[in-house]
Amino acid sequence: MVPLKRRKVLSSHTGNTGNTGNECKFPGLVLFLLERKMGTSRRVFLSELGKKKGFRVEDEFSESVTHVISENNSGDEVIAWLDSQVKGRGLVHLLDVSWYTESMRAGLPVDIQHRHKLQQQQTEEAETETFSVPSYACQRRTTLENHNSVLTDALSLLAENAELSEEEGRSVAFRRAAAVLKCLPAAVTDMTQLRGLPCLGDHSLRVIKDVLENGASSEVEATKNSERFKALKVLTSIFGVGAKTADRWFRDGIQTLTQLRGSGHTLNRAQQAGLDHYDDIIQPVSRAEAEAVREIVERAVLSVLPGAQISLTGGFRRGKPTGHDVDFLITHPEEGREEGLMSKVVCWLETQGFLLYQKTTRNSYLEAKDGPARPASNMDRFERCLTIFRLSKEEEKKKGGAELTETLTENLQTAPLCSSSRVQQGGDREEGGKPWRAVRVDLVVSPISQFGFALLGWTGSKLFERELRRWAGHEKSMSLSSHALYDNKQSRYLRATTEEEIFAHLGLEYVPPSERNA
Ligand code: CTP
Ligand code: MN
Ligand code: MN
Repeated sequence: MVPLKRRKVLSSHTGNTGNTGNECKFPGLVLFLLERKMGTSRRVFLSELGKKKGFRVEDEFSESVTHVISENNSGDEVIAWLDSQVKGRGLVHLLDVSWYTESMRAGLPVDIQHRHKLQQQQTEEAETETFSVPSYACQRRTTLENHNSVLTDALSLLAENAELSEEEGRSVAFRRAAAVLKCLPAAVTDMTQLRGLPCLGDHSLRVIKDVLENGASSEVEATKNSERFKALKVLTSIFGVGAKTADRWFRDGIQTLTQLRGSGHTLNRAQQAGLDHYDDIIQPVSRAEAEAVREIVERAVLSVLPGAQISLTGGFRRGKPTGHDVDFLITHPEEGREEGLMSKVVCWLETQGFLLYQKTTRNSYLEAKDGPARPASNMDRFERCLTIFRLSKEEEKKKGGAELTETLTENLQTAPLCSSSRVQQGGDREEGGKPWRAVRVDLVVSPISQFGFALLGWTGSKLFERELRRWAGHEKSMSLSSHALYDNKQSRYLRATTEEEIFAHLGLEYVPPSERNA
């Protein structure tokens, strides 16, 4: 609090600079102090203070009043009083005296915070502040700033559970509902705010209501604590293990990694690598690590095909600070030069000791033969390689020739045989731990003619991609994939070299990657 003496000095100073002491400095702002419970003398004192600071403070209530300030009144009490004064009052702010005193202190009207508003008004606003959201996630801008993470976490968990049970329809429904909440400009506090929002089915609404009213959803809590969910989550977090396999193992009584290791189940090569590097792979990949991987990938690609272009895609392109992997799209400005590139890149990486695991899939997409995209599937058929990199912890620091050779030699010597049981969980693994970590990396090669589609398709988010394809199919009679866009009405492919052109073909406003975090 600014002491009274100082306030006096300040206001007389204002007077000395030529303003008449009570000149209105904030037109458009008409304040009224409610005497009720505040008392006459305090009201007079505060009113005078306000006027001296250049605020227009009215002694009588009128319809021109914009802010009603009261002390120790509830919103309902103030509204009852207002209703007794005027008929059909307009929109006024009903504020606690704290807003007034803070404004006096600041010498200007401070921003109205939630805590300044009287209780009743919050509900009133909640009722009127409805959000308007288009149905498709690709029509919306979804940044990483999520004002409703408590709600979206709850819905995402149910989506995940549905995925683990291979109930795709239910999973998508929960994901869509979560995506709607993700793009809201403020936190939802009241169910009435959800009126008219798309994609919120009965089940999702029930969950939201539960969380808003009780702080948690009983269904979410029960799911989270169920043996099945916990086990399937652990098992599917092993690279190479999907919902089907995890479910089969769970029915065989396997719930933990230890049980899996001791079970004698035969694992395929991917799963074995996933298990070996489990502790590393479940650690989020940082942006610095993604950059270090990018440097390695660039060296690999440019040494086997100078002039090739490498783009970071996936979550990192959308601005996420961490990811579960690092995704790259590789192309060459001359059509056809990219052919056979993947095997050379993989060979280079392998020789240098950068790969703990890799599996390459051949490109099998032929426009003439395959026809338009298959909208139901999100799998594309580029040449792509799912890998586990061995990233030296020095890698991001070391740049340039000599040092690099050291790293490479060291990489070769100690390469692939370290089992995850030797890696300590959490903590600072630099000290006494191994000098490298395993990182999941996805590489995709596309011909330049398909690059725009590939870039759009591999940037995600997964829901954003799904919604793009749904929009294309349902609203435009088009089929979109990571290879092409086909117009079913015109029976022809629509060419595009950039993402912007694809959005334009689809009749959508361009959404930059950082706003595709649906
Ligand atoms: N993708 C795909 N086909 C696959 C796997 C992934 O087209 N078989 C696409 C997804 O649709 C997504 C992008 O590749 O657009 C990235 O997928 P992924 O790495 O799984 O997700 P991210 O959004 O990058 O999230 P994270 O940061 O956790 O890696
Ligand atoms: Mn990714
Ligand atoms: Mn990926």
